[in-house]
Amino acid sequence: MRKSILLIAIFLSSLPFLQAQKLDIIPKPVSIQQNAGQFVLPSPLKVVADKKLKNSIDYISANISKNTGINPVVSVGKKHGKNTISFLVDTKLDLPNDGYQLEINEKGIFVKGKTANGVLNGFQTLLQICSAKEVKKGTVPFVKIEDYPRFEWRGMMLDCSRQFFDKQTVKNYIDWLAAHKMNIFHWHLTDDNGWRAEIKSMPDLTLKGAWRGPGEVLLPSYGSGDKRYGGFYTQDDMKEVVAYASARGISIMPEIEIPGHSRAVTASYPEVGCAITQELKSVQGEVKNVWCVGREENYDLLDSIIREISGLFPFEYIHVAGDEVNRANWEHCPKCQALMAKEGFTDSFQLQNYFFRRVQKIADKYHKKTDGWNEILKGGEIDPNTLISAWQGISYGIESAKKGYQTIMMPGQYTYFDMAQSETERGHRWAAITDTKRAYSFEPIPNDDLTPEEQKNIKGVQGALWSEYLDRPARIMEYQSYPRISALSEIGWTKKEDKNWDDFYGRLTHSHLKRLADMGIAFRDFPPSAIYQNGIITVTPPYENAVVRYDAQGNEPTRNSPLYSKPIQTKDYENYLFRTFFNEDIASPAVKVEKLPVAEWSTSTAEILTISKNISEHVDKNGIWYLTFTPTADGASNGAIRTVSLFENDKLIQTFPEEKTLKSKPRLRFVIQNYNEKNTYRLNFTVENKEAKESSAKVNFNCSPYLEPQVKVTSSMVENPKFPIANLEDYNIETYLRTDVACANGDWILYTFTNPVVASKIDVLTGIPHHPRFIVNNGYVEYSYDGIDFIKGDAFDYGNASIFPKQPVKAVRIQITGTNNEPLMAGQDLKINP
Ligand code: ACM
Ligand code: ZN
Repeated sequence: MRKSILLIAIFLSSLPFLQAQKLDIIPKPVSIQQNAGQFVLPSPLKVVADKKLKNSIDYISANISKNTGINPVVSVGKKHGKNTISFLVDTKLDLPNDGYQLEINEKGIFVKGKTANGVLNGFQTLLQICSAKEVKKGTVPFVKIEDYPRFEWRGMMLDCSRQFFDKQTVKNYIDWLAAHKMNIFHWHLTDDNGWRAEIKSMPDLTLKGAWRGPGEVLLPSYGSGDKRYGGFYTQDDMKEVVAYASARGISIMPEIEIPGHSRAVTASYPEVGCAITQELKSVQGEVKNVWCVGREENYDLLDSIIREISGLFPFEYIHVAGDEVNRANWEHCPKCQALMAKEGFTDSFQLQNYFFRRVQKIADKYHKKTDGWNEILKGGEIDPNTLISAWQGISYGIESAKKGYQTIMMPGQYTYFDMAQSETERGHRWAAITDTKRAYSFEPIPNDDLTPEEQKNIKGVQGALWSEYLDRPARIMEYQSYPRISALSEIGWTKKEDKNWDDFYGRLTHSHLKRLADMGIAFRDFPPSAIYQNGIITVTPPYENAVVRYDAQGNEPTRNSPLYSKPIQTKDYENYLFRTFFNEDIASPAVKVEKLPVAEWSTSTAEILTISKNISEHVDKNGIWYLTFTPTADGASNGAIRTVSLFENDKLIQTFPEEKTLKSKPRLRFVIQNYNEKNTYRLNFTVENKEAKESSAKVNFNCSPYLEPQVKVTSSMVENPKFPIANLEDYNIETYLRTDVACANGDWILYTFTNPVVASKIDVLTGIPHHPRFIVNNGYVEYSYDGIDFIKGDAFDYGNASIFPKQPVKAVRIQITGTNNEPLMAGQDLKINP
C-alpha cells in the first residue's frame, strides 16, 4: 500500500516534465518558453525590489502573500541573491517602456523592466502564474517570458457621476485594471447628475452639485428615487487615489465635462449657463446643461477648475469632454449670439471650437495637454496635441487619425460596457449588444483604412462604463465590467496575430475566471446553451466543469435549483430556464431553451437564393408566432429578404411581399389558428444578395408566450411624435411611448381592449424597454371588467406593476399620483399572460 502511494507520488511529481502546465496568462504575452522544473518558494521568502519601485513595495508584498500564502521579506536593492524574487529596473533593456522579462529558474525569480511600470507588468504575470489552475501553490514552474504591449495606452473609464462610487470602490477598480496590465484610469468626475471633485474655489459644486433628491438643486435620477443621493471626493481623496494607482502602474486622467453635460454646474452656479428662457433638452433630456460661451467670467471659473485639477493629477492629459453639447442653448443666448457676431461665426460649432481653443490655452498654462471626445474636432482647428477619444464608432477614430491627431479607439459598439450583454439583460442597447466575445472581436487598427503612418496615430484602446443603469442589482458594476475588461486588456496588449477567441476563452475559463473571483469581482459568468429538438432539451455547459442548474416553472434558477446532468425529455420546454453558477456571488444570466433555426443561409456571391422549408416539426400550437432573421455576424448582414410566406397544407396563411433588409433584423408576425400535428407547415422566401458581400443568417420561428389582443391606447399626456402612443398597440417591445412632459398627479394612460381578454396576469411596464429610465415612481394600476368601473391594483414598484384579473378584462389604466421628476415618462406594451 505504502509503496504504491509512493509510486503514484513519484509519477504525479514527474507529470509536469511530461506536459507543460497551463499558465493561462491574460493578456497573452509576446513569448513564453516553458522549461522543465519548478522553483519551490522558500520560507522565509526573500524579495529584492529596485528603489524605483519603492512606492509599490507594499503592493508587491501584499499580493505575493495573497497569491502564494507566504509573507515575503522585502528589501530595497539592485542585486539578485540566491533563491530570491528580484524586481529590477534596467534602463538599458531592449524593450518598449512597459515591457518586461520574467525568468524563473533554479536560482529564483527574476523580473526585469526598462521602467518601474514594466517591472509591475512582469509582476502581474508572475501573480497569474502563481494562481494558474494547474500550478501547485508554493511552486512556480520554470519559464522565460519576454513581453511588451501592442499599445501604449490601455485604458478604462468609470462614470462616477450618474452613480457615485466611493473611494474604496474606485481603488478596487484600479486594482483589477492593474491585474490586467491596463495603465490608464479615466475618471469621469462630473456630469449632469452629480459633480464629484472638490474644487476649493467653487465650493458649491460639491456642497450643492454633488447631491440630488427632494429639495436639492439636482432632481432625482437614475434610480436615486426620493432619497438624498450623492457624494464627492475631497482633494485629499483624489491625491490618495492617484498615489494608490501610481503604485500599481496606473495613471489617472481626470475628466471634467465641459461645456455640455453640465447640469450639476449650472444648478449650483446658475449664472454659468446661458441666459435663456427656453427649456431645450439635451440628448439625455436635461435642460440648461451647457456652459455659456459668451460669458467672459466663465473662463476665469474654468481657469480655477483646471488649475486645481491640474494640481491634483500629475498625468500629462486632462479630459475636457466636448461630447453631445446641446448647442441650441447658444443659439438662443444673447451673449453667445453677440460673440458669434463679433467673431463672424456662421454656425454654433464654431462657438464650440472657440470655447475649446480657450480651454486649451488655460490647460497649457497649467502644463496639461487635453483629451476630448471626437465631437471636439468639429467647427475648426484645435491644438494639434489634442488627444481624441473616438467613441461614436470606428470611423470617427479613423477620421481623427487621418487628420493627424493622436487617437484612442473606444467605439461604443465594442468597448462601452454599459451595453447589455444579451437581449434579455439590463443595460443600454443604443450602440450594440456586446458580450465578451463581441468585445474581444474589436480590432483597433482597421488596416485597409489607414496608411502605416496614420496607424501610428492610434495611441491605444479604452473601454468605458457609464453608470446610468448601475444602481441595481447589487454589484452590477462588476458584472458589466468583467470579463469584458479581460477581453479589452488583450486587445490593448497582445499582438494582433496572437489574438484568438478560442484560445482566450480557454485561458479565461480554465484559470482566469477563478482569479477574478479571488480578486472579489462578481463577474458575469457565461450562460449555457439549451436546445430543444424532437421532444428533448439538451444543454451545453459554457465550459468544462461549469455548474448548470435549471428551473422548470419559468422562474430564474437559484443555487438550490436542480443540477442539470442529462438531457431532459419534455413537451413543456418553454418553461425551462438554465443558468451557470460559479460561486455564492457569481452566476450567468438565466437563458431560455432555444429551438433550432427553421432555416439558415450563408453566401458571399451576388445571387438570389430561393428557400423553401418544411417546418412542421417546429410548429406545435396555435398562437402568435414570430419569424426572426438574425445576421450571424455584424459584417454578414447584406442581402434583401422578399416574399416571406407561410403555408398550412399548401394553403397560404400569410405573406409579407415587401422587401426587407437583413440589416434591419426583420421580425414578422404570423397567426396560427388551426394547429393540428398532422398538418404540414411550409415556409418560403427569397434572399437577394445584391453584391458579392457576406450575407449569412439564422431564421427562427417562435411562439409568443403572451396574448396580443387588439387594443386602443389613450393618455392625458402629450406624446413625443417620434415615440407616439400608437407604439403601445403593436406588441413590439422595442417600440414604446415617450411623453413630451414629466408625468404629474392625475395623469393617466388607458389601454382599452376591443374584446374583453381572458388573462391570468397582466404586467404593466413603464420606462424605456430594458431600462428603469422615465419610469412611473408614484402611481398605481387599475383594471375594469366593463370599461366603466375600475378596481385598484398594485402601486408601481420601480416602474412595474402587475394585475391578476378574475374575469375577462376590458381595460387597464395607469394612474399617476405624483411626478417622476424626470423630463418625460415612457410607457410600454402590456405583457398579457394567457
Ligand atoms: C459619450 O459617450 N457621450 C462620450
Ligand atoms: Zn450663452
